[in-house]
Amino acid sequence: MAAPSRLLIRGGRVVNDDFSEVADVLVEDGVVRALGHDLLPPGGAPAGLRVLDAAGKLVLPGGIDTHTHMQFPFMGSRSIDDFHQGTKAALSGGTTMIIDFAIPQKGGSLIEAFETWRSWADPKVCCDYSLHVAVTWWSDQVKEEMKILVQDKGVNSFKMFMAYKDLYMVTDLELYEAFSRCKEIGAIAQVHAENGDLIAEGAKKMLALGITGPEGHELCRPEAVEAEATLRAITIASAVNCPLYIVHVMSKSAAKVIADARRDGKVVYGEPIAASLGTDGTHYWNKEWHHAAHHVMGPPLRPDPSTPDFLMNLLANDDLTTTGTDNCTFNTCQKALGKDDFTKIPNGVNGVEDRMSVIWEKGVHSGKMDENRFVAVTSTNAAKIFNLYPRKGRIAVGSDADIVIWDPKGTRGCRSCVAFSDNGSVYKTNMNLPLQCLANARVHMEERTISAKTHHQAVNFNIFEGMVCHGVPLVTISRGKVVYEAGVFSVTAGDGKFIPRKPFAEYIYKRIKQRDRTCTPTPVERAPYKGEVATLKSRV
Ligand code: URP
Ligand code: ZN
Ligand code: ZN
Ligand code: ZN
Repeated sequence: MAAPSRLLIRGGRVVNDDFSEVADVLVEDGVVRALGHDLLPPGGAPAGLRVLDAAGKLVLPGGIDTHTHMQFPFMGSRSIDDFHQGTKAALSGGTTMIIDFAIPQKGGSLIEAFETWRSWADPKVCCDYSLHVAVTWWSDQVKEEMKILVQDKGVNSFKMFMAYKDLYMVTDLELYEAFSRCKEIGAIAQVHAENGDLIAEGAKKMLALGITGPEGHELCRPEAVEAEATLRAITIASAVNCPLYIVHVMSKSAAKVIADARRDGKVVYGEPIAASLGTDGTHYWNKEWHHAAHHVMGPPLRPDPSTPDFLMNLLANDDLTTTGTDNCTFNTCQKALGKDDFTKIPNGVNGVEDRMSVIWEKGVHSGKMDENRFVAVTSTNAAKIFNLYPRKGRIAVGSDADIVIWDPKGTRGCRSCVAFSDNGSVYKTNMNLPLQCLANARVHMEERTISAKTHHQAVNFNIFEGMVCHGVPLVTISRGKVVYEAGVFSVTAGDGKFIPRKPFAEYIYKRIKQRDRTCTPTPVERAPYKGEVATLKSRV
């Protein structure tokens, strides 16, 4: 039987970044057609309309993961979650769009990289996606290709690396050129902010000290290395009045630099990731080599255990703005390429499946942010910055029907048969989910304990192993179709689509343009100097 083409999500609490209300949501042809009360016709659901009862649940805009690297060829290996399995895992966690990175080698064409990534992603993606493009070197060709990518290919964000010396790193002058170009063409500049020279020297020093294990990865790039580069990038962007987005904010020091810059009026945004919000760098000192190695990423997680709480407070209070994952996963045997030398461990961690639940747990369940801020930092702010709003990032008439029915309560027990509340009493659920009792324990549980044994990602390790998450997606709807429900996927590779993004996002560029109009320095008008001028003596 063909899946019903229309959906009615009934009686849930619809949460946008600015407002929540109990309402029905009618979905047709992949978009939200109506939002209101009692949308079910008096005679009941007509043929072709599926009713999802969401009473007692939240109805959220699908998550947007601003930062992934699916099947990324990197450090002699290729990340193991590809665009198929990675995006399926995203859907199971309530994320309905990812933005990945097309990354050319130095000297390589940006357009070719973009087309290569599209050829990998298009046949495989299960949710919508977009691409940032990296600028890894500078030339007239790069400058021209940036314009073509913006005008013809739907790209409006470019990432520059201040680290990965000799591979992707660019100089300050190249940053200046790239930021200036971003501004001319209406793109947002993104930076990986770490001082690549200091890292290279620090790594040599650690190896000389006989530190070859994963702890060397953090020791050679301490917080100051991230904070210094963050301030340098902000200073350069500010000099050209270009909007700046700092990817993967990992440390308290870097986050403070961003918060200070925002208070100083700079147009800068910070993106902490699920990893930096959900765990810390003490794992690098774990006695199990593989455990420590699975946490290796750049910039590293920080050994200061107060880091995740600190970053979450800044995210709650708008010092930090969006959340990604930097999902770039490698199996243990791939990580083992660096078993004798931490500089050879492929960098990257998981997160695409768990981001929404981790942020709910550490942000909302903990009382740091409310449901509206949760929607802002997991979806809406990204949609605004990357010019996808209100098509994405909002539940409103005309918006894409990328929607998650979210259970915020974390009630213990099984919802398909007998269900128990936290105090042990039986409660009746309103979700009319299929009865799959005992077939798959995951189906029954409303709270989820994260584990590599049960996650949907390809990678054989999970940095959030054992974390109990009270907020869980029950149903994920992508492009108007139920794609994940009660542990079961109904989605095919290629069902997701590339979403082009236009330049000059109003959310960021209104301020930039106005500053150009009003803040450009002008010369002081004064009468010409008429006095004596010294004569320079010519050198012998
Ligand atoms: O460790 C990381 N972050 N791997 C992916 C590449 C990057 O720098 O984003
Ligand atoms: Zn990076
Ligand atoms: Zn990354
Ligand atoms: Zn059951």
